[in-house]
Amino acid sequence: MTVRFCACTGVSFEEILRLHRAEGLSLQELKARTGCCEGCTNCEPYVLLTLRTGVTDHPVLTPHTVARILGSA
Ligand code: FES
Repeated sequence: MTVRFCACTGVSFEEILRLHRAEGLSLQELKARTGCCEGCTNCEPYVLLTLRTGVTDHPVLTPHTVARILGSA
């Protein structure tokens, strides 16, 4: 199983990465534009990972990894 989109909005990490690269949108701007990370917030570590690595298809993260990613946001 992989994680490729925000389950609350349906926006894909591929689209988020495209907006980030094409328009230089920050995480806050991406949230405002797409609604990602604004519902249950479970996708936020995956979005951050997408922006940092350019990878849009992620394995399910462990709670420890999520805490590490969010702690360094
Ligand atoms: S999965 Fe993205 S806000 Fe819920």
